Order: sequence, then structure tokens, then C-alpha cells
Amino acid sequence: SLTLKEAFKGKFLIGTAMNAYQIMGKDTAATNIIKKQFNAIVAENCMKSERIHPREDKFDFSLADKFVQFGTDNNLVVTGHTLIWHSQAPDWFFVDDAGKMVSKETLIARMKNHIQTIVTRYKGKIKGWDVVNEAINDDGTYRSSKFYQIIGEDYIKLAFQFAREADPDAELYYNDYSMSIPAKRNGVVAMVKKLQKQGITIDAIGMQSHLGLDNPDIKDFEASLEAFSSLECKVMITEMDISILPFPDKNAGAEVTKSFEYKQQMDPYRESVPDSVTTAFEQRYLSFFKLFEKHKKAVTRVTLWGVTDANSWKNNWPVPGRKDYPLLFSRNYAPKPIVDKIIKQTLSE
Ligand code: G3I
Repeated sequence: SLTLKEAFKGKFLIGTAMNAYQIMGKDTAATNIIKKQFNAIVAENCMKSERIHPREDKFDFSLADKFVQFGTDNNLVVTGHTLIWHSQAPDWFFVDDAGKMVSKETLIARMKNHIQTIVTRYKGKIKGWDVVNEAINDDGTYRSSKFYQIIGEDYIKLAFQFAREADPDAELYYNDYSMSIPAKRNGVVAMVKKLQKQGITIDAIGMQSHLGLDNPDIKDFEASLEAFSSLECKVMITEMDISILPFPDKNAGAEVTKSFEYKQQMDPYRESVPDSVTTAFEQRYLSFFKLFEKHKKAVTRVTLWGVTDANSWKNNWPVPGRKDYPLLFSRNYAPKPIVDKIIKQTLSE
């Protein structure tokens, strides 16, 4: 039967994140799946600032180079993730030698050097960049990251300008999670409109799409997709996975996540997921792929956040040892039945 990339040909790119083992060639069962099924890749971790730029005077391109080479060798569309993100950003960015918070000018100069060194190195090899990641809170306000505290909201505009200067032909994206939340949607729309008024082109808005079985409501997701595409931005589904576990309550606090009841949820299925859960999982994937198809004029790429369940960040989150089953391929590298169902659905459209 057809592979995923064959089935979606002419509709949108279908991609996956790659982890370090895969990039190093130590997981050929996974890289064989990537070559066979997908036509786009993104680095799960190796281009994050703490990895690629651990000290002001030291870049480490070893893994990132291999990742980009894998893409070139296998004719895959390569996305860079991510240039400016509050998380996994090394401390040196924000403080001087004496440990004092740097000035606005210094941080801007550091951002510029960071962005332009990386983007220039991969010019012509990387199709697009997640330039700014997760800058908006769920309530629509700007996240009070160190970039924001020191520079103000202009850091976002500057990041896009620096990236554009370094590679005018690369696509530039804004990427964020929980994009279905109406207040967050409105915050992102307002930010993008403001940037556009200032002459910034945002080629696509990335909806990460770390989904649960019944959260978010797909109608809210669609409303966001429509709101973003009406800004004349493409929409990319950048980090898709569907957790089959209850979504941990962020407000629960450490006591609850350490509690016995919570621990019982760590691996409730032990490699044998009940039929009812599998059905819900498959329905959810099918509904979302149907939605992407409905909006295929806007949606140019759908990327899964990992190849097999063993690779998912959802394992060990939010507590070590928790096991999830959110991806299309199982821990033994077999395609789950949902893969064929997704393919059949798109062929019947
Ligand atoms: O590689 C080291 C290993 O050497 C070390 O022994 C071990 C001990 O902590 O850590 C390993 O690194 C971990 C890395 O994942 C690889 O497994 C880091 O601690 C851990 O923080 C890192 O988590 C990543 C997370 O982003 C934070 O950067 C996840 O893999 C990655 O899936 C996740 O991806 C993010 C996107 O970038 C942005 N959107 C949300 C998404 C999910 O959180």
C-alpha cells in the first residue's frame, strides 16, 4: 500500500521530528521509517540555543550539521527549530561576566549574532525557521521571558528581521502551543497583525498541536486555523502528537503528581491499550487529518513530534516513568493500524 508521503502528495508535507540517536545514525529502524514515510524533518533538540550555542564564543554545530546533511541526502524538506525560545536558552545570553543582567543593546547584539550565524550556515539548505517559539501566554499577553524583560516586545520583530537579513529566501515561522485557546489565538493574531504593520512577513504560523483525546475541542482548533490563515499566513502543524493519558493538571502541584493515585496513571496500559482507548485515539487522528485536508490551501505541512512511541517527549512527562502512546509508530517500530486508516481516508477525499 502507499506510504504517508505518497498519500499526501500534492496536499501537504508530512514530517517528523528527529532526535539525537536518529541523527547520529544509531537508530536505523527509525531512520528507515523516516526515509520511507516522511518528506520533511525538524530537529527535536539539537538546534536549541543551549545545544548549538552553549557559550557566547562557542557554537556546536556537530549534530545540527548531521541533521541537515541527512535532510539533503534524503531529499527531505528541513525545518530549523528554534532560533529564539525562552526555554533551553543558556544563561550567558542574559548576563555579563559579573553576573549582572545585560543591557538591551547587548542582548540585541547577542540575538543578532546567534540568529545570523546559524541561519547563514544553513542558507539554502533549510527551507524555514521557527524564528520565535512560545512568546505568547495562554491568556494572550506576552510571555515575560528574559528576552521580553530586557528588550520588550520588539525582540520578536528584531528576531524576524535578523533572520530575514541572513537568508532572504528562507521561510520564517512563529510557533506556539495551545493555539486553540481563544485568548491565546487573539493574542497571536494581534501580535502578527502588529508585526505585519511594521513590515515583517511571517510566512507561516506553527500550531504545535500536542493534543489529548478530548482536549482541545476541534472546533476551537479550526477557529484558530482559520484566524491564522486569514492573516495571509500559511499554517503548519508543527509538533503533532495525541496523548492517550489524562492531561496532567498544571495547577495540581508537586504533592499531587507524586501521589499514589497519580503514579497509578504512569503506565495504565502497559503496552496493551484497551480497544476503547485505541478507537478514541484513531478517531482523533482521523478527525484532525480530515480537518487539515479541509484546509489544505492553508496547511502546508503536518509534522509529528517523533517517530515511534519510544521517542516521545510525552514519556516521562510531567513525571519520570510515565509512559504514553501518542505517535503513529509503536515502540517496536511497527506502523500502528491508524497509519493505513489515515492513508485510506486521504485517498477517499
Ligand atoms: O540528552 C540529554 C542527556 O544527555 C541527559 O543525560 C539527560 C538528563 O536530563 O537529558 C537529555 O536531554 C533531554 C532532551 O530532552 C533529550 O531527551 C533534556 O534534559 C530535556 O529537557 C529535553 O526535552 C525536550 C524539551 O523540548 C525541552 O527542550 C524534549 O525532548 C522535546 O521533545 C521538547 O520539545 C518541545 C519543543 O521544542 C517546543 N514545543 C514543546 C515541545 C514539547 O515540550
